[in-house]
Amino acid sequence: MSNAGASPRRIAIRGDLLDMTADPGFGGVASSKVRFNADHWLLIEDARIVGRTAAAPDASWERHDHAGRLITPGFIDTHVHGPQIDMIASYGAELLEWLNTYTFPAERRHADPEVAAMGAATFLDALLAHGTTAAVVFPTTHKVSVDALFEAASQRGMRVISGKVLMDRNAPDFLCDDVENAERDCIDLIQRWHGRGRLAYAVTPRFAPTSTPAQLDMAARLLQAHPGTYMQSHVAENRDEVQWVAELFPRARSYLDVYESHGLLTERSVLAHGVWLDDDDRQLLAETGAQIAHAPTSNLFLGSGLIDWVKLHDAGAQVTMASDVGGGITLSMLRTLAEAYKVQALQGVRLTAWKALYSATRGAARALQLEHEIGSLEPGTMADVTVWDWAVGPVATHRDRLARDLHERVFAWIMLGDERNLVSTRVAGVERYRRGESCGS
Ligand code: GUN
Ligand code: ZN
Repeated sequence: MSNAGASPRRIAIRGDLLDMTADPGFGGVASSKVRFNADHWLLIEDARIVGRTAAAPDASWERHDHAGRLITPGFIDTHVHGPQIDMIASYGAELLEWLNTYTFPAERRHADPEVAAMGAATFLDALLAHGTTAAVVFPTTHKVSVDALFEAASQRGMRVISGKVLMDRNAPDFLCDDVENAERDCIDLIQRWHGRGRLAYAVTPRFAPTSTPAQLDMAARLLQAHPGTYMQSHVAENRDEVQWVAELFPRARSYLDVYESHGLLTERSVLAHGVWLDDDDRQLLAETGAQIAHAPTSNLFLGSGLIDWVKLHDAGAQVTMASDVGGGITLSMLRTLAEAYKVQALQGVRLTAWKALYSATRGAARALQLEHEIGSLEPGTMADVTVWDWAVGPVATHRDRLARDLHERVFAWIMLGDERNLVSTRVAGVERYRRGESCGS
């Protein structure tokens, strides 16, 4: 809600303030990149964070006392399919069979404007109810699904990056478009939504197998013609998929090279998965600034594989955190981070709570070129803020009491917590979710 001309709405929220100031890397549990102020007030004027104070602010501030609770920046989910909440948790298939059996039929329903509108509202409210305030989203190939998503995001004031899914081969007719019509639809959507409020357009070829080279060229033309637009897709998720891409694009050096050779890798490219990459691919990611959206619950659920995060990190490639619902089986970034920890543990790597938290907040903001807006509790950024119980239930509460230091406490919150720990979600200062209530929009 705009308050132009009036004195600013001033809100102060009390709790334990936690955010990351920079990438802690794969270091130890002691990190200088963690900022923690126990029992402080976070100060918000209108939509933005303006500071923090230990002393209670005066009565000109609307005070929300969450003493003993944790306050963090809203999570950023860098890869999620809104319509796939319709078929999340579908049994028994690897990627390609799963797409044909469950995913494509489910996405078909979103050609209907009513289904698309209801679906978008349900999906975004669910994100907020999991503490996620910003997301990079796949709708479907249908233009109405993009309009519905952006409209619903705009009503909630959320930072959403999305665009029409492009598919012109190797998919059912009911989802396929063609280069000319798709280009026209994308231009129309970009003009309507890109840069409006907190929305940005992402040129969205689903993945290399479902786009002809001509469609990938068209996608690159769109990126070139519309500065500031993003690109999102999938890369090297599953071994059969990688083999298929090698057959479809015999001249490409690798799956990632398909995108590079079509001019689709920029510092605004978000590529989900990146499980089956080699050293040259990792180097290319670092050079172009394209990021890997790591989706551990999806990679485990679909049996896709274990990402080598350390090699990506050492190469200088950016890795952010994604639910990838409905291949992923939760919108909770806490559960997602807990699975990311286990994926590294299986490879003998320790993922600290700090690196995990960074990848789902400030690191994601940075990779998306949005560090000035989201991902931290820095003054000047938008007040996308979440309040959490440190622990819910007897075991987590017991564990929390026995934690000996901050890392132990935050690590247990990540491992044992989920959306039930979430008390309140604010977007641009406005409370959009409160536990036990429906806030509406
Ligand atoms: N690759 C192409 N489309 C999809 C999708 O919808 N989900 C996942 N996990 N991988 C994909
Ligand atoms: Zn995906």
